[in-house]
Amino acid sequence: MIKSIILFAFSFTIILQFGFSSDTKTADNKHGYIGTNACGMCHKNEKQGQQLGIWAKSTHAKAYKTLLTDEANKIATEKGFTTKAVETEACLKCHASGYNVDASLLDAKFTIEDGVQCETCHGPGSEYKSMKIMKDKKLAIENGLLVYDNKEDLCKKCHNEESPTFKGFNFEEMWAKIKHDKPE
Ligand code: HEC
Ligand code: HEC
Ligand code: HEC
Ligand code: HEC
Repeated sequence: MIKSIILFAFSFTIILQFGFSSDTKTADNKHGYIGTNACGMCHKNEKQGQQLGIWAKSTHAKAYKTLLTDEANKIATEKGFTTKAVETEACLKCHASGYNVDASLLDAKFTIEDGVQCETCHGPGSEYKSMKIMKDKKLAIENGLLVYDNKEDLCKKCHNEESPTFKGFNFEEMWAKIKHDKPE
């Protein structure tokens, strides 16, 4: 009996931690959002892997703007929401970052319009963005950088049936479209 209570409590913690989003995970601490261009400063040249350019061409960069469309508002209404899609947390949670944190955690250069951005996946970067910390992976992680052993698990936090327009998700195909590795 006690064992099952512990097990229950434990699985609940896991749900709390991994039940989206990376935003809520860090909402209670000092990690702030610096915005895509600030990451891009160091992650745009060929030697680093052109992450900024690859992201800018991806639909992730447009995910917030998609919520401004008539199509999005129609979906929100059909789902029973009385607010516009772009004002609906149940839509923003997969289409944007920073909407649910204290404004003091948003750098002046951060813009929600960048949709699913670097920090949506890698965690808010105010504490790990310096060259000294970035060059030391362990230190960067201690300061809030999120890296992934299992990429597919990350994708499926948003690419799943909770998405009103979900048509399935093929990881290999989809990763190939947004892959932004550093060249060897
Ligand atoms: C001042 C320059 C600079 C800024 C700003 C910067 N980075 Fe980095 N980043 C680096 C360097 C240098 C590395 C190490 C690259 C290497 O391994 O050679 C790195 C590594 C990384 C890695 C790979 C970690 C690993 O080893 O797996 C990720 C992910 C990353 N940065 C994301 C970001 C994000 C997201 C932002 C914005 C919040 C950001 N960086 C801002 C310079 C920077
Ligand atoms: C949709 C989620 C997502 C977005 C958006 C995203 N990344 Fe990543 N990124 C990943 C995943 C997954 C990996 C591979 C696993 C890992 O290294 O953690 C990765 C890897 C990296 C690496 C390591 C590359 C290597 O080969 O060592 C860097 C650097 C990086 N991302 C920077 C960025 C920057 C800068 C942006 C924004 C311009 C960005 N990422 C946007 C998910 C994302
Ligand atoms: C925070 C939520 C979120 C995460 C995490 C996420 N995505 Fe997405 N992704 C979206 C949204 C939202 C769209 C739709 C954007 C739009 O059309 O406005 C999208 C669209 C895409 C597209 C474009 C699809 C097309 O056919 O044009 C690809 C490719 C993609 N995602 C790959 C990935 C991969 C690979 C991962 C994991 C490494 C990932 N995504 C993680 C939210 C996410
Ligand atoms: C669980 C994450 C998630 C939630 C919640 C979510 N979306 Fe999305 N949305 C996605 C992803 C991922 C895509 C990319 C295509 C796909 O797989 O559905 C997308 C694509 C879209 C598209 C583009 C459709 C297309 O075919 O290109 C619209 C419009 C949209 N979403 C509207 C909304 C609205 C409105 C809400 C809130 C009622 C919402 N989404 C909630 C993840 C989500």
